[in-house]
Amino acid sequence: GGHGGGHGAGHGAGHGTGHGTGHGEPGRSVTDLTGPRDGEPDVRFTLTARHAPVGGVDALTFDGTAPGPELRVRAGQLVEVELRNADVEEGVTLHWHGLDVPNAEDGVAGVTQDAVAPGGTHVYRFRPEQAGSYWYHSHQDSARTVARGLFGALVVEPAGGGGPDAVLLAHTFPDPGAVTEPVIDGPVRRDPVERVRIVNTDSTTQTWAVDGAPFTVLAIDGTDLTGPTPLDGAVLRVPAGGRVDVGLAGPATVGLVDGPSVGFGVDPVPLTGGGPEFDPLAYGTPAAPETGPFDRELLQVLDTERVTRRGVPSVVWTINGSLDPEPATVAEGELVRVTIRNDGTDAHPMHLHGHHVRVLSRDGVPATGSAWWTDSLDVGPGETFEVAFRADNPGIWMDHCHNLNHAAAGMVMHLTYE
Ligand code: C2O
Ligand code: CU
Repeated sequence: GGHGGGHGAGHGAGHGTGHGTGHGEPGRSVTDLTGPRDGEPDVRFTLTARHAPVGGVDALTFDGTAPGPELRVRAGQLVEVELRNADVEEGVTLHWHGLDVPNAEDGVAGVTQDAVAPGGTHVYRFRPEQAGSYWYHSHQDSARTVARGLFGALVVEPAGGGGPDAVLLAHTFPDPGAVTEPVIDGPVRRDPVERVRIVNTDSTTQTWAVDGAPFTVLAIDGTDLTGPTPLDGAVLRVPAGGRVDVGLAGPATVGLVDGPSVGFGVDPVPLTGGGPEFDPLAYGTPAAPETGPFDRELLQVLDTERVTRRGVPSVVWTINGSLDPEPATVAEGELVRVTIRNDGTDAHPMHLHGHHVRVLSRDGVPATGSAWWTDSLDVGPGETFEVAFRADNPGIWMDHCHNLNHAAAGMVMHLTYE
């Protein structure tokens, strides 16, 4: 406790609010990189963080519920969200997971703003350009506060509106003394929809399945895939923080394998999985490959290290051999290729703020399917991914493992603009 730094003690030190980005333009700092400050918002929300009982445990909530209220907007709208903190002692921020907002709106305590203390408020303004499925969560002491309920869904509909859809947020609430199981928000039977937006708000991968009708994977992490083709019985591995949008061809059950499920136009059936694993690498209509030339090459090596702390053996997870890795630096406009290699024994759902990355290859196998853009990429033990992104959003950005326990233990680095 007592620390202000994003995910864990000490991290974020030296990256406090107002530090220059080193951008070469005098006076340009994180706090200047805001969304539109002027103009009447098209849509306005207020979220109040407070303790409230949820399912018999003392949860941390927005507006008394966990998940918090679903925020639904349209692409191109000017959105204003006022955050109020009633009584969450840890402090609260709002991070728009997957939405590439201007840096000062990113909601990372100790990097882009200070956490909002009890009694305080903070106003976020941004104009989401890309329709898709996102979520919001606090980014202060997040391993504990997100697990306890400080999160909700954020849906950006196309500017002209979309078809009927539903959001399924699955979450495991900590309940000391009980065997915890993930829960899916909302009723178990719903009207038929065209699009189901799956959101994994846990710190580990979830396994989902669909039963009753063929389905397509419409989008990953808020970006539509091109030419999705029907699947029958495949299981979907959804990384921590990730979203998968599923298109249903008829009444169907969607849910967690061996867990809760929801029926759309049908009574839900238990899901046992067993089908082949959906693999985005070759799925959909092949899109033009990203061939470069790349202006910059970055390397991220993830590892598991056994250490002894105060005589007790334990495990830490490092990036580039460190619990406090050097920031990576890019220049605005560059096309950047990143090689992410996991030398360790645990999976790491890597999440770069402010940018979407396109997957180029996995273990040397090029992505031949629909362009696969992600912001929450599971990098399994022994795996190597190559991804690319355009450095088009200046600021100081967190790049971390979205197993928030790993992040709290130090698996965090930053991306800065020179
Ligand atoms: Cu979903 Cu740095 O967070
Ligand atoms: Cu990790």
